[in-house]
Amino acid sequence: MALRTIELWGSEVLRREADEIEQVDDEVRTLIGDMFETMYQAEGVGLAAPQIGISLRVIVVDVHDEVTQPFALINPRLVEASPELEKGEEGCLSIPGLTAVVERAAHVVVEGLDRDGQPLRIAGAGLLGRCLQHEIDHLNGVLFVDKVSPLQRNMLTRKWKKRR
Ligand code: NI
Repeated sequence: MALRTIELWGSEVLRREADEIEQVDDEVRTLIGDMFETMYQAEGVGLAAPQIGISLRVIVVDVHDEVTQPFALINPRLVEASPELEKGEEGCLSIPGLTAVVERAAHVVVEGLDRDGQPLRIAGAGLLGRCLQHEIDHLNGVLFVDKVSPLQRNMLTRKWKKRR
């Protein structure tokens, strides 16, 4: 496994629509290993492949709760999203130091493939549900700063520019 560099807000790859994985092979499993290592080193709870500059549909998640084991999901699809919404504070390893309150579906179901290419279905609420939606957004070139009011986005943009 190897530590990869995390792409930051402003990087073009974060805005791209990531490609589907066609075959779950050792190359993909190596990528997943690297993603876990990079996520843990950065003390994150989720990471999407575009965040390490790889425009492929892979996410890894570890929300550190007792029931959900860490998992990787390949070609994840949101198959259910509750009509009830929930607000919660969010950050992103690609936008370190900034957070915002983001409204998302309170409960979601996501389907994809695991690292062996087997179907995997994850249902989540709370932090897990939020994390799944946040990471899938990354695969579509969407960042949490896109999901707040224009006023708030301006504020976040200003703070980010000051920091860089
Ligand atoms: Ni993120």
